[in-house]
Amino acid sequence: MKFFVDTADVPAIAELNDLGMVDGVTTNPSLIKKSGRDILEVTKEICDLVDGPVSAEVTATDAETMIAEGRKLAKIADNIAVKVPLTWDGLKACKVLTDEGNIVNVTLCFSANQALLAAKAGASFISPFIGRLDDINLEGLDLIADIRTIYDNYGYETEILAASIRTVNHISDCAKIGADVITAPPAVIKSMIAHPLTDKGLDAFLADIKSANISIL
Ligand code: E4P
Repeated sequence: MKFFVDTADVPAIAELNDLGMVDGVTTNPSLIKKSGRDILEVTKEICDLVDGPVSAEVTATDAETMIAEGRKLAKIADNIAVKVPLTWDGLKACKVLTDEGNIVNVTLCFSANQALLAAKAGASFISPFIGRLDDINLEGLDLIADIRTIYDNYGYETEILAASIRTVNHISDCAKIGADVITAPPAVIKSMIAHPLTDKGLDAFLADIKSANISIL
């Protein structure tokens, strides 16, 4: 399973990248706003840091302007994934931009039918938002499972990029279902390591190392 980091915070990306945990990055207008940085400048910096796809979202809502924005974003680096919303205009932009050889991530997916349309439009990635479905008492993970079944039934190559990840259980559940990619905030990825028995076990080993004077170097 690929791990994308859902942030425009460059030091946070660099920290996880150094650990080999970063297969790509996703940003959106809210994350760019949170970074306080210029979109083109910060996106370039992230593309220089990370080898995998870096999603940068268009700001327009009409296809023609989305395509122009997508072409400009794609010039930043070879690993740019142009992110477009799941609207008819977004799908039109997706078709044109993928036909031109660009990576396209179709975002704001909340239904299996929307995911089917995105695959038919040639999307490289589909981004179903788990957490925002959970927020309104729906089962975000059911959507991931439904899309997995549909894509596998017909051999669509669009990668399922599970987004709006809020918990570590979302990540392991997505892995069990077979999502191709998860994108999660750095803090959620970092908390995947936590287990009280690891801490307790290490404390016991450290106590024995000290009492028995065990040394290697
Ligand atoms: C990723 O592409 C999305 O922009 C992101 O995961 C949305 O997450 P949120 O619902 O926590 O804002």
